[in-house]
Amino acid sequence: MPTDAIRLDGKVAIITGGAGGIGAATARLMSMRGARVAIADIAFDRAQTVASAIPDALAIHLDLEDEASVEAMVAQTVSHFGRLDILHNNAALLGPDIAQADGNIEHMATALWDRTYAVNVRGTMIACRAALPHLRATKGNIVNTVSSLALQGHMIQAAYSSSKAAIIQMTRAIAASHGRMGVRCNAVAPGMTMTPALREAFPPALRQVVEDETLRDQLGDPQDIAEAVAFLASDAARNITGHVIECDGGGTSHVPGLGGFRAFFEGMGQ
Ligand SMILES: NC(=O)c1ccc[n+]([C@@H]2O[C@H](COP(=O)([O-])OP(=O)(O)OC[C@H]3O[C@@H](n4cnc5c(N)ncnc54)[C@H](O)[C@@H]3O)[C@@H](O)[C@H]2O)c1
Repeated sequence: MPTDAIRLDGKVAIITGGAGGIGAATARLMSMRGARVAIADIAFDRAQTVASAIPDALAIHLDLEDEASVEAMVAQTVSHFGRLDILHNNAALLGPDIAQADGNIEHMATALWDRTYAVNVRGTMIACRAALPHLRATKGNIVNTVSSLALQGHMIQAAYSSSKAAIIQMTRAIAASHGRMGVRCNAVAPGMTMTPALREAFPPALRQVVEDETLRDQLGDPQDIAEAVAFLASDAARNITGHVIECDGGGTSHVPGLGGFRAFFEGMGQ
């Protein structure tokens, strides 16, 4: 029988890193589906701007490197809305300077490694730890944003990709420990997703390399990732827990070098 289980009516969600890109799209979509949302970000001004365009939304200043700030985010949300049903851990240490500095292990700066893990892994762990008692009460769930880079080896971004892989294992651990308490935990692994920031900063030649490996005829946008997150967060996904959903236009689904194969076979008229 068809149901409306994809709706989020009556639910309260925290979206970390909700001030832009994928997080802002997810906050807007969850609100459209009936949730009340807390938008938590270190960029508080931008979080306020996003929140001001969403009915009943709350903007929270969050610094994932600061344990007290992460715990306060959960406490403030529960105090404001009276409950917590969904924690979407979406924030990450990103930006052109960080990406530039995050190369291979031989050249890794220990400080960059530590900071990446402090924001992405430790911050996510503290948020989950603070949220779990409330999620047990509501039979709620967690959705973590990881990356297709966590599932494949690459010559760049060793700190970022391995931190995201750690979040995948954290996802499974929480799903296993809290499943019988009614709490689900999943992850979404986006491929390259055309946020306004990435559209501006990413070199077109490298973008073409990714496009050639994508099975769809275009790269995903923030709305595509938001749809996967909002689905996992909904009761429609009640039978999915401990899993990673790859939302990447098929980019990680096929034999290596598909772009080259395509060029070869097209050259033979196939
Ligand atoms: N865009 C992509 O191609 C892509 C691909 C794979 C995975 N992802 C993941 O998607 C998520 C969202 O990324 P996005 O592309 O929308 O970029 P984004 O820069 O818009 O989002 C990241 C947010 O995290 C916030 N943030 C950074 N450090 C923080 C801290 N210490 N405390 C609190 N907030 C902090 C930033 O202010 C920003 O708003 C990230 O987890 C990213 O790793 C993105």
